[in-house]
Amino acid sequence: MTSPLNVHHDVAPLNQGCKTLSVALSGKSHSYPISIGSIGTHSLSQLGGWLQTVTTLKPTGKVLIVTDETVGALYAQFITASIKESYPSATLQLLSLPAGESAKQLDTLTTILTAAQALSLTRSDLLIALGGGVIGDMAGFAASIYYRGVPFVQVPTTLLAMVDSSVGGKVAINFKEVKNGLGQFYQPIGVFIDVATLETLPQREQLAGLAEIVKYGLIERSALGLSVLDTNQPSSQLSASSFWENLATLDSNWREAIVDLIASSCYIKAQVVMRDEQELAPATDATGRVCLNLGHTFAHAYEAALGYGTLLHGEAVAIGLMQATWLSETLGLLNQSTVKTIETLMNALNLYPITLPNHVAKPPCPEQLLQLMGKDKKVTTTGKLRLVLPVEPLGTVVVQEGVPIEAVKQVLLRYF
Ligand SMILES: NC(=O)c1ccc[n+]([C@@H]2O[C@H](COP(=O)([O-])OP(=O)(O)OC[C@H]3O[C@@H](n4cnc5c(N)ncnc54)[C@H](O)[C@@H]3O)[C@@H](O)[C@H]2O)c1
Repeated sequence: MTSPLNVHHDVAPLNQGCKTLSVALSGKSHSYPISIGSIGTHSLSQLGGWLQTVTTLKPTGKVLIVTDETVGALYAQFITASIKESYPSATLQLLSLPAGESAKQLDTLTTILTAAQALSLTRSDLLIALGGGVIGDMAGFAASIYYRGVPFVQVPTTLLAMVDSSVGGKVAINFKEVKNGLGQFYQPIGVFIDVATLETLPQREQLAGLAEIVKYGLIERSALGLSVLDTNQPSSQLSASSFWENLATLDSNWREAIVDLIASSCYIKAQVVMRDEQELAPATDATGRVCLNLGHTFAHAYEAALGYGTLLHGEAVAIGLMQATWLSETLGLLNQSTVKTIETLMNALNLYPITLPNHVAKPPCPEQLLQLMGKDKKVTTTGKLRLVLPVEPLGTVVVQEGVPIEAVKQVLLRYF
């Protein structure tokens, strides 16, 4: 089978040492490009020209830009100016919503739908989500249900949204205490990533996104530039832009490395999504979308036990990745030196150990965590724990059924 993905390393450096790279999905009606701008210059000011290449928006069309108050104050001016330049006769409307997870709910969704209706948005117009995963998920969901679906574009501004939530078409809001309780699969018509927006992203949010990037390195060794995952290879033979090496040099080489890491991550996510767009593959098929769940069963348990918002999602994922790694070691799926490689990298990236906020008196007890893990719908159908775990060679995962509870308990105790 030929790959459904076309990967273009196409555009010459925009700025010193920076490049633009795009990943395009093809072969399906909802294929869409992911454009990744450089860190050195604000590619947001090129958004209008890019829209002309990916949308059928008419010169007199309408555009609803949905953002949050923080991101809007920083970046809305760039994209409105750019769209006005390319579409001088278009009608633009900016909607700034409160920032944060607590806004990801029905009332805010109604606000977006009301703004769309007030603007008389139609299916030949456009909705743009400018912000992190909260805005992307919520505006995407609004786009999916308004008039049975209007075209929308993702313009992610957090690292997590760039490498994860903006790609793959899962859109949702939280509903009655259930995270992402209302939602569906609805693909954007394009994803436009301006890496320069990361310059203003708080460090804690950057780390949270980095945890998802490490996850990609652990699940997909065959993807773009992952040869460095072969730990037997001497470093002199490794590609200068390989995934694992880029991660390892992030500290000294943030600007250079991050663009390639985002591109590789989007590539891997897109590849998984193309294999199993709507999570219909058998739950034990590690090539399906379930592989993206690596570390997440642990993470969801910590988030729920500590109360949502105590840890950022990516921080909980960082904990879960280490616990999944240790569990694999216990079960004989990973050897000690590979575990050491992962541990060293996570430590160098400040992703291990994750400390709990001061107001948390003590970590949740294993019994509570195990109970929460058992409730995770992706974990079990028969009362046994089913987990995605890293295996040899590094960069490969399996779905392990019937994982012994006692072994899980030990890795929970090992972290805190
Ligand atoms: N759809 C999916 O596949 C998927 C995958 C993972 C996560 N998610 C969802 O994503 C959400 C989390 O997304 P998130 O981590 O991006 O959080 P977020 O959207 O809440 O953004 C985090 C904070 O950073 C601020 N911010 C965003 N960009 C900024 C920038 N460039 N400079 C300064 N501040 C900036 C925001 O205003 C916000 O306060 C969750 O709701 C989660 O459920 C969805």
